[in-house]
Amino acid sequence: MTMKVTTATAHFLLVFLASTISHSVICSALGNETDQLSSLLEFKNAISLDPEQSLISWNSSNHLCSWEGVSCSSKNPPRVTAIDLVGLVGRISPSLGNLTFLRNLSLATNRFTGQIPASLGRLRRLRSLYLSNNTLQGTIPSFANCSELRALFLDGNELAGGLPGAGDLPVGIEALVLSSNRLAGTIPPSLGNVTTLRKLACMNNGVGGGIPGELAALRGMEVLAVDGNRLSGGFPVAVMNMSGLAVLGLSTNGFTGELPSGIGGFLPKLRQLTIGGNFFQGNIPSSLANASNLFKLGMSDNNFTGVVPASIGKLAKLTLLNLEMNQLHARSKQEWEFMDNLANCTELQVLSLEKNQMEGQVPSSLGNFSVQLQYLYLGLNRLSGSFPSGIANLPNLIILALDDNWFTGSVPQWLGGLKTLQSLTVSYNNFTGYVPSSLSNLSHLMELFLESNQFIGNIPPSLGNLQFLTTIDISNNNLHGSVPE
Ligand SMILES: *[C@@H]1O[C@H](CO)[C@@H](O)[C@H](O)[C@H]1NC(C)=O
Ligand SMILES: *[C@@H]1O[C@H](CO)[C@@H](O)[C@H](O)[C@H]1NC(C)=O
Ligand SMILES: *[C@@H]1O[C@H](CO)[C@@H](O)[C@H](O)[C@H]1NC(C)=O
Ligand SMILES: *[C@@H]1O[C@H](CO)[C@@H](O)[C@H](O)[C@H]1NC(C)=O
Ligand SMILES: *[C@@H]1O[C@H](CO)[C@@H](O)[C@H](O)[C@H]1NC(C)=O
Ligand SMILES: *[C@@H]1O[C@H](CO)[C@@H](O)[C@H](O)[C@H]1NC(C)=O
Ligand SMILES: *[C@@H]1O[C@H](CO)[C@@H](O)[C@H](O)[C@H]1NC(C)=O
Ligand SMILES: *[C@@H]1O[C@H](CO)[C@@H](O)[C@H](O)[C@H]1NC(C)=O
Ligand SMILES: *[C@@H]1O[C@H](CO)[C@@H](O)[C@H](O)[C@H]1NC(C)=O
Ligand SMILES: *[C@@H]1O[C@H](CO)[C@@H](O)[C@H](O)[C@H]1NC(C)=O
Ligand SMILES: *[C@@H]1O[C@H](CO)[C@@H](O)[C@H](O)[C@H]1NC(C)=O
Ligand SMILES: *[C@@H]1O[C@H](CO)[C@@H](O)[C@H](O)[C@H]1NC(C)=O
Repeated sequence: MTMKVTTATAHFLLVFLASTISHSVICSALGNETDQLSSLLEFKNAISLDPEQSLISWNSSNHLCSWEGVSCSSKNPPRVTAIDLVGLVGRISPSLGNLTFLRNLSLATNRFTGQIPASLGRLRRLRSLYLSNNTLQGTIPSFANCSELRALFLDGNELAGGLPGAGDLPVGIEALVLSSNRLAGTIPPSLGNVTTLRKLACMNNGVGGGIPGELAALRGMEVLAVDGNRLSGGFPVAVMNMSGLAVLGLSTNGFTGELPSGIGGFLPKLRQLTIGGNFFQGNIPSSLANASNLFKLGMSDNNFTGVVPASIGKLAKLTLLNLEMNQLHARSKQEWEFMDNLANCTELQVLSLEKNQMEGQVPSSLGNFSVQLQYLYLGLNRLSGSFPSGIANLPNLIILALDDNWFTGSVPQWLGGLKTLQSLTVSYNNFTGYVPSSLSNLSHLMELFLESNQFIGNIPPSLGNLQFLTTIDISNNNLHGSVPE
């Protein structure tokens, strides 16, 4: 074996086989320095494609500490402490497990296939591991010995098997992000022993069972996001002990039963609550108003009954309120009071009451709503009376849906003043009269649904000027004229 020894700097030596830039470089005299080099060259060797040329600097002209994506300590000898690379295709070489000084390993947003090497579990100085958004398969190896690990991001892969339990996680871990994989099984009760946990995200997997009561011990939890699984059982009582919780996502699962009436008092720091797409029933607790930081409240597609609590207007930071597809009702002025109070939510951008049992006239207080409102869905209720006049004061609406109600009278000319409107749906009502010509001022309009009303006369020819209009339905009316091209 012929070796060409290059004295690179006063501090260290790099040894390469002169004939090749392969990885088969070993010089035991150089100890860790050579180990690092061979580990990295093994890593490079497992890359099958490098379309962005991320590894072009990984050659013998440069010391490995100046290779792209590699960071070293400033100590002597320098140690590889961080690797951060994007754009690669291939497998993750187990040799990375030899880089024992590695603190941060970020290989998110590459196209790595194959398994997560179990050898990564030997990196006892590792603080963060980001493998998000690859196509990694197999099961999650044990990280129990990575005693410094705080953040483990494995989301957006094809990982199978179960969630790691306390026995496979280091004592101090704070963030465990496993969303968008193919994980199954149940949430291990032993996670209740991982009391440093602040963020557990396991959205969009196939996890079943309930949320174990043992998780009540996780007092420091800030984010619990398990949307899009097969979880079931009543509202998880363990959550009520997580008094610092800011994000709770339970949507699109099989949860049943009622929400705890005191939920807002137990979770005063809540910022996002998404529980849509379950089988929750009963009333919307008025205590939610005590969670004064709530800005996103999604409760759609459940079986909530009763009225929308008037206290909802105390949520001054609310930007999204989605109550669609429930059995909420409002019949009297008192039951509509929540609408008056929503005018206090000056950040509100999205409101959906679609597919409930709202009755009678839409309160004129709609006109006091935040001008921030962009999306208003009132369809599939039993709303009646004339076109809600308050809408005239909402100049930034992008989508307006009033379909499948009992509205009567004409569609007002002032609608043409809502210049940002992209979708207008008034179908399946009893609107009468002419289609207002002012609609041709809605220069961003893409969809116009007028079907199944009692409109008469001609379709305004000027609608033909709307260059983004792709869909228009005028069927089941008494309209004449051809649909503008
Ligand atoms: C690096 O060297 C140190 C001290 O000589 C040793 O303890 C350690 O095991 C070596 N690491 C590797 C990966 O060989
Ligand atoms: C070695 O890396 C440098 C960048 O550091 C690059 O300019 C050069 O083209 C590389 N050499 C080879 C042979 O890839
Ligand atoms: C590096 O890691 C690989 C795979 O874990 C192992 O087979 C190899 O012996 C290690 N090399 C050194 C120099 O430690
Ligand atoms: C390593 O990650 C931590 C957070 O996990 C960050 O504060 C630190 O700057 C990172 N260091 C390097 C070298 O990337
Ligand atoms: C992974 O992909 C998701 C969805 O595209 C994206 O929201 C997320 O920010 C990505 N994560 C990283 C670390 O790039
Ligand atoms: C963790 O370290 C212990 C003690 O060295 C060893 O017995 C065990 O196999 C290691 N576990 C893993 C998953 O590497
Ligand atoms: C938590 O740890 C203790 C002590 O190791 C153990 O007795 C208990 O069974 C663990 N709890 C769970 C839920 O695994
Ligand atoms: C949860 O909170 C309840 C009431 O505040 C308390 O009795 C219980 O001990 C707590 N559970 C855990 C596991 O901390
Ligand atoms: C919510 O706050 C009100 C006062 O604003 C208080 O009377 C009520 O008890 C609180 N509810 C809970 C569940 O903490
Ligand atoms: C919703 O509630 C109604 C009335 O309580 C009940 O008849 C219906 O079965 C419930 N639906 C579901 C899906 O739970
Ligand atoms: C909304 O604001 C008005 C005027 O500031 C106030 O009288 C009313 O109590 C508020 N409603 C709620 C629910 O906070
Ligand atoms: C809608 O108009 C039709 C035809 O005039 C009428 O029979 C029906 O009662 C009206 N419905 C409502 C809710 O006004």
